Amino acid sequence: MSRPKISVIGAGNVGASAALKLAELELGDVVLVDIVEGMPQGKALDLMQMCPVSGRDVNIIGTNGYDETEGSDIVIVTSGIPRKPGMSRDDLLSTNTKIVKQVTAEVAKRSPNSILILVTNPLDAMVYVAYKVSEFPKQRIMGMAGVLDSARFRTFIAMELGVSVENIHAFVLGGHGDDMVPLARCTTVAGVPITELMSKDRVDALIQRTRDGGAEIVKLLKTGSAFYAPAASTVEMVEGILKDKKKILPCCVLAEGEYGINDTFVGLPVKLGRSGIEEILEIKLTPEEREALHLSASHVRELCNRVYELGEL
Ligand code: APR
Repeated sequence: MSRPKISVIGAGNVGASAALKLAELELGDVVLVDIVEGMPQGKALDLMQMCPVSGRDVNIIGTNGYDETEGSDIVIVTSGIPRKPGMSRDDLLSTNTKIVKQVTAEVAKRSPNSILILVTNPLDAMVYVAYKVSEFPKQRIMGMAGVLDSARFRTFIAMELGVSVENIHAFVLGGHGDDMVPLARCTTVAGVPITELMSKDRVDALIQRTRDGGAEIVKLLKTGSAFYAPAASTVEMVEGILKDKKKILPCCVLAEGEYGINDTFVGLPVKLGRSGIEEILEIKLTPEEREALHLSASHVRELCNRVYELGEL
């Protein structure tokens, strides 16, 4: 049986970190694609030379073209520009729409049965662009945001309570922006909701830090955005799919009536398996949570309308 093939488009910070983690977990062979000449080839060779040390048997190649991506099982799209201090994810819309459009056309042609995972920001709008360009069924197109936003929330809770991150389950729904919807009620420490373990003020403060989690790192780095946690979060989705784990994770997916949201890509809890999104789970929300989710979804729709105004679709 041949190993799964995973293509990573964009061999920058997120893409290369994802490739490293994919290799370390021996999830499959990796093809790294970038427009910068020599860079994906160099990183691929470096990663190949890491494999004997880690004891991992995978093949990693770098390229500036797309032929090597043919027949991929999963394609991760990270190509695009990251934020600089003071920028919102939405400020990336025009540049990244063009990049995602071009890249998706190339990969969809060569891997028509693949599962696409978008990472490029502004995330929800970029998943929409890829959906339109690829014409893939909605089960095979998704965005990585909720896993990362939930991981950030889990980190801050673990730091606050001094407990293992493994004990913490968190759910952050909605778009990958300032109006994301962390569900404190469904966020637990060893099964106990955090609302029973912390004051409302502290919960609110951690929610705010989660919303600003990306910006906090952009401000510190000054020349780019977060990449280790985004890469690890993407690889968690890849693992869930390739191992057919039926893992429940918040992912950006096309809502068609779920939670009363229509024709919008937004972060919802889904079951991930070998065929991609196998189910969107509808958990009961309070009226406030539902309202916040709808507000977030309307923001995504506005961004998608701006994509149309750019004349790119
Ligand atoms: N085709 C292939 N690769 C491209 C293209 C293209 N058309 N355009 C840009 N790239 C490559 C760049 O050359 C660069 O190597 O995409 C890579 C992006 O890497 P970084 O600049 O390091 O950015 P990164 O931190 O990886 O973020 C990528 O993910 O999290 C999001 O907001 C982030 O949109 C950003 C994306």
